[in-house]
Amino acid sequence: MKAFPSIEDLRRSARRKVPKMFFDYAEAGSYNQETLRANRSDLEQIKLRQRVLVNVDQRDTSTRILGEKVSLPLALAPIGLGGMMHGDGEIAACRAAQAAGIPYTLSTMSICSIEDVAGAVQEPFWFQLYVMRDRGFIRELIQRAQTAKCSALMLTVDLQVLGQRHCDVRNGLTVPPEIKIRNVIDIATKPAWALSILKGRRKTFGNLAGHVKDTTNINSLAQWTASQFDPTLSWKDVEWVKSLWPGKLILKGILDVDDAKIAVTTGADAISVSNHGGRQLDGAPSAISTLPRIADAVGSEIQVLFDSGVRTGADIVRALALGARSCIIGRSYIYGLGAGGQAGVARAIEILGKELDTTMALCGVKAIAEINRDVLAEPSIATMQRPQ
Ligand code: GLV
Repeated sequence: MKAFPSIEDLRRSARRKVPKMFFDYAEAGSYNQETLRANRSDLEQIKLRQRVLVNVDQRDTSTRILGEKVSLPLALAPIGLGGMMHGDGEIAACRAAQAAGIPYTLSTMSICSIEDVAGAVQEPFWFQLYVMRDRGFIRELIQRAQTAKCSALMLTVDLQVLGQRHCDVRNGLTVPPEIKIRNVIDIATKPAWALSILKGRRKTFGNLAGHVKDTTNINSLAQWTASQFDPTLSWKDVEWVKSLWPGKLILKGILDVDDAKIAVTTGADAISVSNHGGRQLDGAPSAISTLPRIADAVGSEIQVLFDSGVRTGADIVRALALGARSCIIGRSYIYGLGAGGQAGVARAIEILGKELDTTMALCGVKAIAEINRDVLAEPSIATMQRPQ
């Protein structure tokens, strides 16, 4: 894996190794992908302040997320269909995260179930919840996460309805893939992937087995989501979830100062400032452009995390400088998973950790707590504070 110097190298490798329908699913943004592109371009516009001749020996990238000591200000995001990027992909990613000393979040829409992952790893992981119409099932899922000793619950609040990703429609995304000539040819050219999936313990959504009568027949993921996910979800339901979950609660998908203020009143422990990696409201601002105002408004009352667009160590410094306490990565590690399973995820985390460490040194800071707006070059501060 050392041959992959950057996340972009892992991305290129994953693209060659993973069938198109699954690679595209992870890669895509919704509709015109304007927000997806803005996430990256706005991050890149934020310039860091180069400082020289500061003693930066003995640097430390460790910090705390929700009270947990972590080696990096980083957690792995919940990714639906992770186990379709590589056989037992969720277990592989969780093991890599735990070996690196950072949290892993298992998605409701994972291939390996909560119990599969809990049985295969040493430490607690986080569980992400989508609220479906069948509240009895959601209550059960929360209970299962508790039984599995998950250390935090991440409630995704920005996906009551699904933003369409055009490629999923074009590719006819199904889980598992339908036996069609196009898919058979694609899979035949990806033998390592096919073997890993064959060896994997599940071929469809592990957490939903038994709930949805025939999970092998979720033919169109988008249609299925529309029929199951609850569009009535409201702040009241956050209270309901909180009443069922005694542990730490993270609300993922906050992009607005007013929503962030309401989130504080729910008693949640953290929010993640996010536009779902540009996969939901196309036309929404980049997540990074909303971060400073949200962090200024609520950062002293609730832990502010950040996701959507993080691909480099410099991005982590940018987000921390603008008020995030830690970042969450999705595609950055999913590329590693597609490129090389557990070793690929480990490599993705290592790449980001080393980039973060070097970026800190070149900015003249030695500890995560020292990263604040002073590490930003003046023009980028002006850019990020312009009224939205
Ligand atoms: C689900 O979280 C998705 O973005 O597809």
